[in-house]
Amino acid sequence: MSNSPFTNITVAGGTGGLGYHIAEALLNDGSFNVKILRRLPKTANEKADLLASKGAEIVYADYNQHDDLVNVLRGTDALISAAAPGIATGNHDFDTLQTPLLNAAKAAGVRRFYPSEFGIESEIGDHIETDTKAAFREKVEKSGLEYTNIMCGLASEYLGTVGFDVKNKTAKFYIDGDTILSTIYLADIGKYTAESLKMEESRNATLKVAGSRFSLNQILEKLEEATGSKWQVVVDKDIKNRFLNKIDPVPSPMDFFTAVIVGGSSFPHIDNDKFNFSPRPLDIDEFVRQESV
Ligand SMILES: NC(=O)c1ccc[n+]([C@@H]2O[C@H](COP(=O)([O-])OP(=O)(O)OC[C@H]3O[C@@H](n4cnc5c(N)ncnc54)[C@H](OP(=O)(O)O)[C@@H]3O)[C@@H](O)[C@H]2O)c1
Repeated sequence: MSNSPFTNITVAGGTGGLGYHIAEALLNDGSFNVKILRRLPKTANEKADLLASKGAEIVYADYNQHDDLVNVLRGTDALISAAAPGIATGNHDFDTLQTPLLNAAKAAGVRRFYPSEFGIESEIGDHIETDTKAAFREKVEKSGLEYTNIMCGLASEYLGTVGFDVKNKTAKFYIDGDTILSTIYLADIGKYTAESLKMEESRNATLKVAGSRFSLNQILEKLEEATGSKWQVVVDKDIKNRFLNKIDPVPSPMDFFTAVIVGGSSFPHIDNDKFNFSPRPLDIDEFVRQESV
């Protein structure tokens, strides 16, 4: 039986890169009834099929049809949003995407809302993605619903996106090499999220969790050891300033976002010790194998 005050959990975006792992962790836990909220129109989706085969109920709504969304959310105790606005197509607006979810959750009597966070600390003006997440967080905090924000740094699976290039044995640092980068496997973000539903400390709280915390230089050292060769390091610490002030050579938005991600993943304090769970540490050999194919 559940020792969580929440039994009926809906995951919006449960078919996504992260949402799948959150839904799977909730199902594996065995304490929860899990619904996956998908957008209309209905489309075939392997992850939805897999989650349904493990016991999830797949429900559909148009995010812009308030009444339909409310109907679908009735009976939900906690709504976990792992939805994303279509980042691959250039849409980073998490506020516009999730506001209908929050309005419907409130009308449907949902008690707790988890915004689609699962990332980094940021300052306003850093990036449209972090800015719209911050704007939405504020709406949730003012909504009267309970909330939990899970911050977790960089997904270990995405280490290659912040400048570590195994094939070319090069590292690009957009920030001081001694900066700590918190990393965590997607499956472990799911496990932390599931366990947080059972913890008193998660009520109206931001919880920061990590699987490993190494500096960029330490990760580089591990990569050099794993690949048996010295890597070339390119250091460009002025990237944020050049991007924000449009100074030549103006960095690409992706390079700029990389600097934001690394800078926001340091987390001077983490909350791992509040959980009964040990995450898998960063496996550099596995990363090298995966990036070498
Ligand atoms: N810390 C990290 O390194 C890390 C890594 C991954 C993700 N994250 C975070 O986790 C969250 C989810 O990211 P993700 O990469 O897993 O997302 P994703 O796979 O791009 O999308 C998640 C789901 O959102 C729904 N969706 C897609 N486009 C949409 C749109 N235009 N409007 C409404 N719903 C849409 C889809 O579900 P349906 O089609 O089934 O409705 C999709 O499966 C984000 O907050 C992201 O920043 C963090």
